[in-house]
Amino acid sequence: MKNVPLAIDVVEAKASRIDSVDFENLIFGNVFADHMMECDFKDGQWQNPVIKPYGPIQLDPSAKVFHYGQAIFEGMKAFKDDEDQVWLFRPEANIERFNISSKRLAIPEFPKEVFLEGLKTLLNLDRDWIKKGFGNSLYIRPFVIATEPGVSASPSKTYKFMIICSPAKAYYSGEVRVFFADKYSRAADGGVGYAKAAGNYGAQFYPTNLAKEQGYQQIVWTDASTHEYLEEAGTMNIFFRVGEKLLTAPTSDRILDGVTRRSVIALAEEYNIPVEVRRVKVAEIVEAAKKGELKEIFGAGTAATINPVKGFGNKGEKFELQDQEDSYATFFKKKLMEIQYNKAEDKFGWRMLV
Ligand code: COI
Repeated sequence: MKNVPLAIDVVEAKASRIDSVDFENLIFGNVFADHMMECDFKDGQWQNPVIKPYGPIQLDPSAKVFHYGQAIFEGMKAFKDDEDQVWLFRPEANIERFNISSKRLAIPEFPKEVFLEGLKTLLNLDRDWIKKGFGNSLYIRPFVIATEPGVSASPSKTYKFMIICSPAKAYYSGEVRVFFADKYSRAADGGVGYAKAAGNYGAQFYPTNLAKEQGYQQIVWTDASTHEYLEEAGTMNIFFRVGEKLLTAPTSDRILDGVTRRSVIALAEEYNIPVEVRRVKVAEIVEAAKKGELKEIFGAGTAATINPVKGFGNKGEKFELQDQEDSYATFFKKKLMEIQYNKAEDKFGWRMLV
């Protein structure tokens, strides 16, 4: 990979759109901040990045992204503390995963320093879009698409890297119930499950719609070969609390190595909550639910943060979970937010000042 010149051109928006935004009633991912970052790859290297007003881009209809889905993305968040300082949460982990995903999709890796420098410049320009207070954040969506015209099924020679940012509150507006997939799969061994490949998510829409018709908001994917093991939910990794024990599936070819997942496991270890990272059988969760030992299910992801799951469906059966007074989901969410919003010591070194 050749080095990229670090000069980042900045073209500021003539007027901000911020006054037209109702920050109290945001729908996740529907509104975008004034600026975006763009960097093209051509002639074998990344070119000078530019930060410019948010707006449409033009692509040839034969661009490979449209035909072969050669595209990856990330999700990150920025938070504002009471002193108006802006913080990123574990950005280096996301950048590392961005390049792991890129490699799997035969996309040239993007230099980490340019990514971070550009992101910080972008966030500084759009600081006003980040609101204070627990629950408010700026969701950051970096992505790369294959832009080369031509429908031959081969890797593109040109790419566009972009970062767009969206002010966010909760991802899910209501209660979440999940359905344990018994037919469809998110990923298989040797596939792209561990990557944030755009197609991983597009392929979920149809089975998730079927689950929605039955009253579930999300699917929990099971392993593709036997459908006996619970792996990952549509927009987040998934944790089960059986008694006092926390269970989550190990990462693999099929499962996204979620940054929030990793953070929950680290917090559990720090606060002596017994956590087992191992294959979790559908049958054991159903049995625990029947015996009243299944206390909680929650999802963990950047967009979803820590999202409690109120119930689940498996084949024809439906189960409801009781609210817990000592809820692990509430505990982890609070601990995470205290770090993210600079309200607690950052023992793990997860915060980065913008
Ligand atoms: C995120 O949590 O940032 C994600 O990428 C999930 C997304 C599909 C909403």
